[in-house]
Amino acid sequence: MPKVFYTQPDGAERVVDGKVGDSVMRTAVQNGVAGIVGQCGGVLSCATCHVFLAEGELDAYPPVSEDEDEMLDCAATDREPNSRLSCQLVLREGTDVHVTIPPEQL
Ligand code: FES
Repeated sequence: MPKVFYTQPDGAERVVDGKVGDSVMRTAVQNGVAGIVGQCGGVLSCATCHVFLAEGELDAYPPVSEDEDEMLDCAATDREPNSRLSCQLVLREGTDVHVTIPPEQL
């Protein structure tokens, strides 16, 4: 079972057991992790699921698509090179994920 490590802007960490096939966004929303809104439900039209993905895990996921790239430009907190929309990060067996939640999503 993959684990998702969510770090809040103040450094507080929450670890959640995820389900293979679920996204990092859905896992957060279902478990009440603060700071990930997921307003559009994962169809790349809100950017309220913005996270900073751990540098060492950037290559573990498909690259940012054109649509994700456009939405990241609309994120409430300025994007960084390791920014991703967490609805696009799908959990896989044996792969834990570490993300930091930005200070603002709306
Ligand atoms: S939940 Fe809306 S873009 Fe990810």
